[in-house]
Amino acid sequence: MKTQTVSFTLNGESVTATVPQSWNLLRTLRDHFELTGAKEGCGEGECGACTVVVDGDAVNSCLYPVMEAEGKTIVTIEGLEKTDGGLHPIQDAFLNNNGVQCGYCTSGMIMSAKALLDKNPAPSEDDIRTSISGNICRCTGYVQIVESIDNASKMMK
Ligand code: FES
Ligand code: FES
Repeated sequence: MKTQTVSFTLNGESVTATVPQSWNLLRTLRDHFELTGAKEGCGEGECGACTVVVDGDAVNSCLYPVMEAEGKTIVTIEGLEKTDGGLHPIQDAFLNNNGVQCGYCTSGMIMSAKALLDKNPAPSEDDIRTSISGNICRCTGYVQIVESIDNASKMMK
């Protein structure tokens, strides 16, 4: 299998990986870097469980060829903790507003929320719903997730 070396910034650290050229970013994060927060749901860009933030945008890492990560800045759910090791305000908000049930969609939802709030600290409900329109949750009915992101935006002001 043909391999290639790729270098990028991952959760604030410069990293390099030599992986098969055919791998996507999700597989590289999970199987090479052992960061298993991003989940594989559909593997086809439909569910958002694999969402990570690349250069400020939420992307489906299952569809993102790892070689395109060269030189980029990538943040995963593992990179969200506060410097004191505590939970990030978005994570706190999901816990406090029952935005988590089975949790399979949660890291993707939170990374979509992070990309939104970094660009728009005071989003409307429509903005929030649009930001998670590519993230499927089979448990919550979305209301608690929208409330979680709204609450996070207020806590982060
Ligand atoms: S696993 Fe990537 S969008 Fe579903
Ligand atoms: S909490 Fe179960 S899929 Fe969203």
